[in-house]
Formats: sequence, structure tokens, C-alpha cells
Amino acid sequence: MEPIAIEHLSKKYGEYVAVNDLSLTVERGVCVGYLGPNGAGKTTTIKVLTNLLRASSGKAYLNGVDVIHHPKAALDGVGAVVETPEFYPQLTPEECLSYVGTIRGMSGEAIADRSHAVLEQVKLLEVADKRTGKFSKGMKQRLAIAQALLHEPSILILDEPTSGLDPRGMVEVREIIKGLIKTDITILMSSHLLYEVQEVCDKVAIIDRGVLQTYDSVANLSAGHDVTVTINTLEPITPPEFRAINALHDITSVKRTETLALKVSFTGGPEAQFRVLRGILNTGVKVVSYMPQRAAIEDVYLQLVPEGEA
Ligand SMILES: Nc1ncnc2c1ncn2[C@@H]1O[C@H](COP(=O)(O)OP(=O)(O)O)[C@@H](O)[C@H]1O
Ligand SMILES: [Mg+2]
Repeated sequence: MEPIAIEHLSKKYGEYVAVNDLSLTVERGVCVGYLGPNGAGKTTTIKVLTNLLRASSGKAYLNGVDVIHHPKAALDGVGAVVETPEFYPQLTPEECLSYVGTIRGMSGEAIADRSHAVLEQVKLLEVADKRTGKFSKGMKQRLAIAQALLHEPSILILDEPTSGLDPRGMVEVREIIKGLIKTDITILMSSHLLYEVQEVCDKVAIIDRGVLQTYDSVANLSAGHDVTVTINTLEPITPPEFRAINALHDITSVKRTETLALKVSFTGGPEAQFRVLRGILNTGVKVVSYMPQRAAIEDVYLQLVPEGEA
């Protein structure tokens, strides 16, 4: 039984179709990035999945239980952070967790045990007894994740977990998600940031204007698409050097963009990128910088999500 199964799900706001006939299955232990531009329908999908909104049609199952007909049972094994969390400023993380645990029907002992574990997971143990009023947005987001994890859910659903955070906050939240990936929890997280999904997730589902455009592993999506690297050199490249680079195994095209700059495209992932760099250095060209311009997955995204959208 798959942790998350969505079948032909649609959600209309009046006549407007925000999610259109969406089907998506997430396997256990996988982290799926739900990617799309603003207004694509990510939050709407997540709200239907977490019973904050009612679907117009279609079905959604969490751990095999129908969310629409049995929301309480379906959400039993789910932790979710959907809206930007707000906490009573005078409460401490310990108190916030205790409150959530009580609502969830956990025993005092279970709450104490789990509070310690989740505060450690989200790196808030040191401020467990400090009031949240002075916490940064990132700390509050981490506390919200701790709350979602308190009852040991097998599924974690996060809507734009790093949105609105400063760079440090973003990195810290991503690190926590990366830590969770090592456990057997199943994660569905939305994001409008391509590099974030590529860095954190195993699989990517791309949604645009309510329609699922693709759903595959990051590796598969990248395969077969070119990566372009800009190379700056100390001295102008000679014609023999240019020919030698052009002849390198993985390379699909070489363009001289300036006297001291080349654009090299090739197919493949990080290993190909390494081989290309080594190959170029072996030709004797004096490379001063080697900068991937666009990751393969960006090509996929640009093809699937056309211009002119928010
Ligand atoms: N309550 C609502 N009433 C009407 N339209 C809405 C409502 N919520 C969202 N929408 C519209 O539905 C579309 C999808 O929104 P949303 O799911 O929030 O997208 P995302 O989270 O991907 O940015 C957008 O065009 C948005 O304007
Ligand atoms: Mg949203």
C-alpha cells in the first residue's frame, strides 16, 4: 500500500479549476518535491490532502485510507505544516509540543519522550524552554516541523517549508529535511525553487496551471538533457585546443563566447561534469573558472513550464 495515492483529483474555486485531474502516487520512504510556479495549484493540492479543503472530484488516500470520507483516520499517520505557523509568544517549544501532544491524545510520558526527540531532530533542544516570541521565522518553522513530527507520523507533508525564510533559515530547514530523508518517513514538500527540490528530493512532480506535467526521479529527469558550463581561461584558446575540447567524449557542443570564455554543453550528471573538466584540463587549457550555467533539470522545467507565468 502506497503512503500517498491521489487519483483524478480536481479542485475548483467556482468555475476556476485550480487542480485538474491530478493523479500521483508516492512510494514509502521517498521524498517528493512538488514543484511549480506561483498559482500552479500546489497549496490547493496539499490542502485537499490534509482535509483543509474539500475536493471537487477524485480521490486521495493516505496510508490506504480515504481522506475525503475518513479524514481523521487518514490523517492519523500524517504530520503536516501547511500555513505559516504562529505560536503564542509566551509559550516555549516544550509547551507548544505538550499542547499539540495533548490534542493528539498522547500520554504525558509519550509527549516528554517525543518532545526531546523531535526538538533534537529540528535542532531546537537548546532553546526548548525559551519563549518563542523572540524566535526567528526559521526557528518557528522548525518548531512547526517538530509539532508535525511529534506523533511519529509515517508521512510528512510540507507546503513551501523554506518560503519567506532568510538564507540561513532556508539552509537550516533544508538540512532538517535531509536528515529526515535518512529515516523511512515519506515526504511530500512543495516548492517553487527548482534547485531546492533538486538538492533535497528524490523525485519531482511538476505542476503548472493545475495540471501535472511530469513525475519522475531527479536522476531520470536530468538524463538526456544537456548541461551547459561556462569556462573562463587565462589565455585565448588556440584552434588545436578548441578541436581537442570538441572531441571530448561527453561533449555535445562548444562555443567561444568571448576571447577568454567558452560555453561547453554535455549530457549527463555530476560524473560527466567531472570527466569534462578533467578532459579540458588535460588539453593544457589554462582554466580559471568552470561554472555550470544551467542544470539539466532546469531545461526540463523550462520546457514544461512555459514563460509568461507568475
Ligand atoms: N480560495 C480561493 N478562491 C479562489 N481562487 C483561489 C483560492 N485559493 C487559490 N486560488 C487560485 O487557485 C490557483 C492555485 O492556487 P494555489 O494552490 O495557492 O497555488 P500555489 O500554491 O501553487 O501557488 C491560483 O490561481 C489561485 O489564485
Ligand atoms: Mg502555495
